[in-house]
Parts: sequence; structure tokens; C-alpha cells
Amino acid sequence: MKISFSKLSIPRGGVLALCVAEGNKLGEFAAQVDGRAGGLVSRALKKGSFKGKHGQTLMLVAPADLPVQAILLVGIGKPQNWAETEPEKLGGGIVKAMNGGEENQVHFAVEGTDKAKMDAAAVAARVGYGALLGSYRFDRYYTKEDKHKTPAFNTLTVMTADAKGAEAAYEPLARIADGIFLTRDLVSEPANVLYPKEFARRCKELKELGVKVTILGVKEMQELGMGSLLGVGQGSAHESQLAVLEWNGLPKGREMKPLAFVGKGVTFDTGGISIKPAAGMEEMKFDMGGAGTVTGLFKALAGRKAKVHAVGVLGLVENMPSHKAQRPGDVVKSASGQTIEVINTDAEGRLVLADALWYVQEKHDPQLIIDLATLTGAIIITLGHEYAGLFSNNDQLSRRLRDAGAAEGEGVWRLPMGEAYDKMMDSDIADIKNTGGRQGGSITAAQFLKRFVKDDMPWVHLDIAGVAWKYKASETVPKGGSGWGVRLLNRLVADNYEQTDG
Ligand code: BES
Ligand code: MN
Ligand code: ZN
Repeated sequence: MKISFSKLSIPRGGVLALCVAEGNKLGEFAAQVDGRAGGLVSRALKKGSFKGKHGQTLMLVAPADLPVQAILLVGIGKPQNWAETEPEKLGGGIVKAMNGGEENQVHFAVEGTDKAKMDAAAVAARVGYGALLGSYRFDRYYTKEDKHKTPAFNTLTVMTADAKGAEAAYEPLARIADGIFLTRDLVSEPANVLYPKEFARRCKELKELGVKVTILGVKEMQELGMGSLLGVGQGSAHESQLAVLEWNGLPKGREMKPLAFVGKGVTFDTGGISIKPAAGMEEMKFDMGGAGTVTGLFKALAGRKAKVHAVGVLGLVENMPSHKAQRPGDVVKSASGQTIEVINTDAEGRLVLADALWYVQEKHDPQLIIDLATLTGAIIITLGHEYAGLFSNNDQLSRRLRDAGAAEGEGVWRLPMGEAYDKMMDSDIADIKNTGGRQGGSITAAQFLKRFVKDDMPWVHLDIAGVAWKYKASETVPKGGSGWGVRLLNRLVADNYEQTDG
């Protein structure tokens, strides 16, 4: 989707979209268009069910005296109540309304938003951002043009009183979208294509943006004693990898301990010897969602040259049953030195994260750690597909994430941790076991991870099993890999950790 910004004027050709506030109030420009159209718009508003409610759309054929093909009315509701993400839904809504049509161009006159808490430039930029996000398609495997036709609509001009300001505000948002699209691509990619080495190769493409990328193979990980991560991957024909991403956009002379982001990157989770049932197993291609989000985040941070120091560690493995696979009952030794009894080979994500968490603490001395993982089915039972589960040893970091999530429409909900849950992970023959049973399954998984986090290290674990995949399209998130978390973490960084010049 090509997005640009211009002043308000009647375009030639394509579709002209107009704002209609709740109660069918037209703005100045829309009223002018209505006049040129002989009152077509106001007549349409008198009849029918269109009431200017936020997200409502109505397509009208344009009269001959207007140089456009059609007029699209877009309900904007009550802008005074808008959250920042509301205008994005209008942009995404236009994409939806244009789908299946033959027109390739829309000019959207954004006006009447003076009472919103954002200025005109921010509103227009967010409209463009929403259209961009909503236009994403994972279409690389379609070969039949007639069945899977690329939508004709591909050019949106957002018309606003402050086109220059909107363009400036849009630029960093487009870089965040680049990151989100990378995450969506990775998450939607099938596991025969995206295995650990291929994932690592795609990470290396971020070097172009100035991200330092280091890849460790099995041999290097053996030398580090990463028996926990390696045990998960040992049944696979694909070699396990650890990818380390580093972005340092600090102004000269500035320093900070890095923010660390750790991602579960199980490129496919069969369950291993504790094999999963066949029904729905295909979904387990998205079990690398945590690593996908971290990768997209680094693309966003580097793309907009964020003034921050961040490190990402991705544990990339495939969990397969085979004659080489680990067995239930095996005891492995993690890089931290702690031994783990593998009760269930399907509780593999935590085994991967244990060594990745240790690695980032030993090698990068971070000021905080946030890990992301499609870790438990139990979190879907708890929170459904609306919120990610948040587990933490730190109130301030938890609050910051909660606020960032609320602002970006990527909510997180904190769940309890504590000693009683920790005890459920004690093993009879090793330091810890990898499952604590069905009850409180997401919490005991978090307790497991906590044993690999140093005592005074601010840490958050986000269980994203319910949000990494979108089952029902919204205006700005199509079905498939959602890209969830890139916005949340980018916002966390921007609002709390980014340095200023001087
Ligand atoms: N990758 C799964 C969790 C998952 C389930 C993610 C559904 C997305 C959708 C994870 O590795 C897993 O299998 N967890 C087990 C843990 C159990 C064996 C303790 C689970 O949730 O059943
Ligand atoms: Mn599993
Ligand atoms: Zn898994």
C-alpha cells in the first residue's frame, strides 16, 4: 500500500472518502463536496442506516459533475473520545471497504477531528498507519491469480490541513510497520520453510539496518553447556541455533546497560516423544512467535533509529520425535548449572528459554529482561485471545508494560507468582522438573523460568500463546501471524528508555 499526505482538495479519479461524525455531521470540506454533488451526500444520510458511527462505511456512486468514481462515507463517531488507535481503525476500515472492488486509489479527506486529544497531523498519520497495517497480506504461496486476486486498492492519499506534519509523524510509524510485517511473515511461514537456520538467515538481513547479528550453532552451544536448549532440538534433522541481535542507537558519548528481549523460537512443536494430538497440530508452526516478535522489534528499532541499546536472544529449535529425540524422564544440565528432569517433552519452550535467559545475563549484563513465548495452552484458557499473560518480579516494569499495551491496543494482564507455585516445580531426582501439572499451568511455567533469572534482575515473562496468531481479522490485523508485541515493546522503549540528544 502506498500512503501519502496532501492538502484537502477534490481529486481526479478514484474514490473520495469523507468523514461523517456521529449524528451525520459533515465537516467543511465534505459539505463543499456535497454541494458540488447536488446534495447527494446529505440525501444519502437522511435515509438508510448510516449514522456516522465509528467504523461504519457507505459507498455512493459519484454524480457526473464530480471528477471521481465514487464517494465513500466513513463514520468517525465522536473524535473527542478517541484513543490513539481509533484513527487507525478508519484507515484499516477503508482497506476493508475497498476490498473486492476495482478502484485502486482513495483520497480520504480527514477533518472534523479538532476535538480529539491528538492534533490533525497525528490523526492523519494514524489513519495512514492503520491502512498500511490492514493492507498486509501473506500471499507468497498463492499461484492462482483468479482465486487469490491481489486487491486493486493500493494507493491511499490522506488529505489533511497539516500534510507536512502528518508525513513527519507517519515516517516512524511506517518503520514500526516494517517490523510488524517481518514478525507476521515469520509467524505465518510454514515450518518446512522456516527452520532454525533459515530463521537465523532472516535475522542476518537486519545487518543492513545496522543491527549486529551473531549466530551460535550446536557446537558453540555445547561449549557453553546449553544442555537444556540442545536437548529440545536433538530429535530434529535441523540444527538448533541461537541468534543474538544487538542494536545500539545511542548518541555518541551516551551509554546504558542494554534492554534484553528473549524469544522462544520453536519453529515447529510436535510435542516431541510426548507427542501432540493430530488435530490442530499445524498451528504449532507459530511456536516461534516470541522470537518472531523480538526480530520484528529490532527491525522497528533499527528502522526508526531508536536512541537505545537493546539486545535480543532467540532460541531457535525444532521439537521433533525421532530415535535421537530426548525422552520423558531424561535429566539435562542447563548452562546455569541447574539440572532439569524432563517430565514432558512437550513443555519444551521453557527448556529453550532457560539457556537463552542465562546466556543474555552472562554475556550482556542487561538492565532488565523481557521474554516472550507461546509457552502454554493454559494461558488461552485463562485469558483467551485478548490479553497476553504477564508474569514478573518487578512492579515498575509490569506497570510500564501495562501502560504501553493499553496505548497500543496490545493488552497484557498480570498473573500471580509465588513460593507455593515454585514448589510445584521441584523434582525428586534433579534441581527442577519441567512441568508442574495442569493446574496453574501458565504460572508454574513462569516459575520455572524465574529459576533461571538472577535474583535482582528486573524481569517480565509474556505468555503470548493466545495472541501471536489472529483467528479473526480486525481492521488493522489480518488473519494469521498477528505481529503482536512489536508495538507494545516499541512503545515501552520509546516512552521509558529512549535517550534524547545532548
Ligand atoms: N507451544 C505449546 C503451547 C501452545 C499451545 C502454544 C497452544 C500455542 C497454542 C507448548 O510448548 C506446550 O506444548 N505446552 C504444554 C505444556 C504442558 C505439557 C505442561 C501445554 O500447554 O499443554
Ligand atoms: Mn510444546
Ligand atoms: Zn511449544
